[in-house]
Amino acid sequence: MRILIKNIKTLVQVDDNDRSRVCGAEMKNLPSINDAWLAIDDGLIADHGKMDDFPGISDWTKLTVIDATDKLVFPGWCDSHTHIVYADSRESEFVDRLNGLSYEQIAQRGGGILNSAQRLRNASEEELIQSALVRLDEVMKQGTCAVEIKSGYGLSLESELKMLRVIKKLKELSPLTIKATFLGAHAVPAEYKGDKARYISLIIDKMLPAIAEEKLAEYCDVFCENNYFTKEESIKILEAGLKHGLKPKVHAEQLSNSGGVEAGVYCNAISVDHLEYVEEKEIELIKNSITMPTILPGAQFFLQLPHPPVRKMINAGLPVAIASDYNPGSSPSGNMNLMIALSCIQYKMTPEEAINAATINTAYAMDLSTTHGSIAIGKKANVFITKEIPGYSFLPYSFGSNLIETVIINGTIIKQ
Ligand code: NIG
Ligand code: FE
Repeated sequence: MRILIKNIKTLVQVDDNDRSRVCGAEMKNLPSINDAWLAIDDGLIADHGKMDDFPGISDWTKLTVIDATDKLVFPGWCDSHTHIVYADSRESEFVDRLNGLSYEQIAQRGGGILNSAQRLRNASEEELIQSALVRLDEVMKQGTCAVEIKSGYGLSLESELKMLRVIKKLKELSPLTIKATFLGAHAVPAEYKGDKARYISLIIDKMLPAIAEEKLAEYCDVFCENNYFTKEESIKILEAGLKHGLKPKVHAEQLSNSGGVEAGVYCNAISVDHLEYVEEKEIELIKNSITMPTILPGAQFFLQLPHPPVRKMINAGLPVAIASDYNPGSSPSGNMNLMIALSCIQYKMTPEEAINAATINTAYAMDLSTTHGSIAIGKKANVFITKEIPGYSFLPYSFGSNLIETVIINGTIIKQ
């Protein structure tokens, strides 16, 4: 299948596959071509250029031509942090919070992550696959082409394996590119209450070897937070994961300043995520590291947490990535267009910075920057075409509107 998109008003985020991530002041640059064409062949980006230099069509075999007059073309969003596999929604906790309870208070009553764990344990693999496929289809139509999915609602050997097997099945069934993360250290399950050390032993001695044996995950994540896992415990678990070939990621500084960034940078984590309580010392630590600081504006907004210090991080020369954290407790949305809008409106990121953060920088945070995250010859043909809009800043400006008209995944046009 070949596709030619012509008369593109702006082809956004074009490069030569020479950037793996974008840092600091560079994030203000969003390389784009006005009045452009884009050719797709065999699932890959074949060529692109300005309409003035368009060579014409010599071979019409199996060619679909799309006229994108007044429309923009973007690389698909990469969402490097989600918990998209879960059994049930948790709107009753949302109402409890509206009535004055905090996220922490709900968790202490057995709600929160433990509530999701209870429900997931009672759900079949098939039910989990079907509900996750609906969510993946929804985010795909909102322009997402690659998704990282975490376990962490199982919290027993059996149920963590069940979740990760579901994610493995989703990799086969969904057209999206999917990466799997083991998050056994999401919370201490009820049956281990008061004996966290024994649960950590279960993670290290039983869960990790079984996951490695079945090759069920690429990453190992830890919720480093008061009442969850300490910095020291996080390092211990991440190092055990590394021994099994799982790269570290960390839920860091979401509800308090608890050492998550320190643990992550120490273990060469590919990303540290959330970051609402990041201070100067964490910014210094991330400098000169390979770690991608990732903000999750959906969770910050939904839980009404303090803003992460995004401007300070970018001014210090750090890269920043934006992911959705799609999950039933703290971010029941996987809409990356909304995440970008929230980042601009709330944290004063420029549209260029936010688009870089949700494409090339999130691709980096899931080891996909050679194949995803920009329009480059040879990369996967994962792009979306907007409706008629004045320019890319219109995307975060008109938050809440659906401005995506056509999605192409691996060179196949997806029906809206
Ligand atoms: O990323 N912070 C920890 N984990 C999730 C929330 C999960 C839940 O509440 O179910 C998060 O926000
Ligand atoms: Fe999360």
